[in-house]
Amino acid sequence: MYIAVLGSTGSIGTQTLEVVRELNSRKEALHNPHITITGLAAGGNTDLLARQAVEFNVRLLSVAAREDVYNLTEKIRMLDPSFKADIFYGEEGLLKVAECGADILITAVVGMMGLKPTLAAIRNGTDIALANKETLVAAGDIVIREAAEHKVSIIPVDSEHSAIFQCLNGNSKRDKRAFRKIFLTASGGPFRGMSFEELSLVTPEDTMKHPTWNMGSKITVDSATLMNKGLEVIEAMHLFGVSHRDIEVIVHPQSIVHSMVAFRDGSVIAQLGNPDMKVPIRLALTYPERAESETPLPDFTEIGSLTFEKPDTDAFPCLRYAIEAADMSGTMPAVMNAANEIAVGSFLKGNIKFNDIQYNIRKVMDLHMRSKECPFIQDPSLDEIIAADKWARAAAGGIKCPV
Ligand SMILES: NC(=O)c1ccc[n+]([C@@H]2O[C@H](COP(=O)([O-])OP(=O)(O)OC[C@H]3O[C@@H](n4cnc5c(N)ncnc54)[C@H](OP(=O)(O)O)[C@@H]3O)[C@@H](O)[C@H]2O)c1
Repeated sequence: MYIAVLGSTGSIGTQTLEVVRELNSRKEALHNPHITITGLAAGGNTDLLARQAVEFNVRLLSVAAREDVYNLTEKIRMLDPSFKADIFYGEEGLLKVAECGADILITAVVGMMGLKPTLAAIRNGTDIALANKETLVAAGDIVIREAAEHKVSIIPVDSEHSAIFQCLNGNSKRDKRAFRKIFLTASGGPFRGMSFEELSLVTPEDTMKHPTWNMGSKITVDSATLMNKGLEVIEAMHLFGVSHRDIEVIVHPQSIVHSMVAFRDGSVIAQLGNPDMKVPIRLALTYPERAESETPLPDFTEIGSLTFEKPDTDAFPCLRYAIEAADMSGTMPAVMNAANEIAVGSFLKGNIKFNDIQYNIRKVMDLHMRSKECPFIQDPSLDEIIAADKWARAAAGGIKCPV
């Protein structure tokens, strides 16, 4: 089986390569495919990308910027002077890797930059193992429609969506009558229980201390604001063909129940496991089979109790804003997502405070409804979504936050 990875040096990307290493070292085991990697794309971490390329013998590579091409070439030469690879950069590079003819593309870049390469892979007939949720948030209708037209599968990598996908196995996922609702679980992040006022004092360093998951910086901030859960509601709507009204977000601090589906007869099926992204990544690479693995099972007597509570959307209004955007649909989810990407970037640089993230998103969503330059469109084309995303980034950059 041939795979390509966008974002190979990140949290999901490196765990994907760990899974490939593990599957390829256990070739004889039942249902383990032998995986060949045909393309890798990363940003600026050329040290790691060079090591990945040489280890997995990958001859098609992409980096974020033109200067990284030289850095990567030098680093590969130092590791193995005889190793030759085609190296591209920027959007063209992401597209080259996406279109390299792999059976599965793992989309593990962050944010809207995943959209065009994901669509390119779909149009090329490549199945998608989707980690990059922002792609579905911004343009889910188009991505799902194109996937259906090109008979391409989108297998979720996000642990909650992988859980829902597994709970729905054997049931028609698009038969809305088959299930009553989805319970989408959330850890609650590092600031669970804090008030809006207390949150005004938290720093980027505090935000990086996620209690149960070790992830890239953007999703870690999104988890702390609960925007991640809002993005996941929209992701689930598109993946499973449901409305946001069919989804209930519940906080489950132990992160053992990864999500649940309630069926029309009153049964509720849950998927459980330790918080380990290698489990959903492995399933996305081997579906519909399950590969053997030595992943530790939860020690339930040690865990003792599994608890559930309602999210506090007064302290964490981003979840409310995302559901509002989901309800409006059209260009609003793309606008909200872009505003969030810009605000999270500013927060990580120390330019704005934690509560300013939600303030910026609210402002940009309100501006979009009044904008003559970028009016709200109910059924946007891809170009209109990309234009709305660009407008929202500029608008978010210009917001003055209260001191
Ligand atoms: N981490 C998780 O546990 C998790 C769970 C569920 C879903 N997700 C989703 O998966 C996606 C990836 O998250 P992550 O946590 O793995 O992020 P991450 O650790 O920040 O990794 C991001 C990857 O994107 C690359 N990248 C950055 N800028 C780029 C550019 N201009 N061109 C090409 N590549 C670029 C980075 O490369 P460099 O490092 O080389 O700069 C890195 O490989 C996100 O959409 C997230 O919401 C993540």
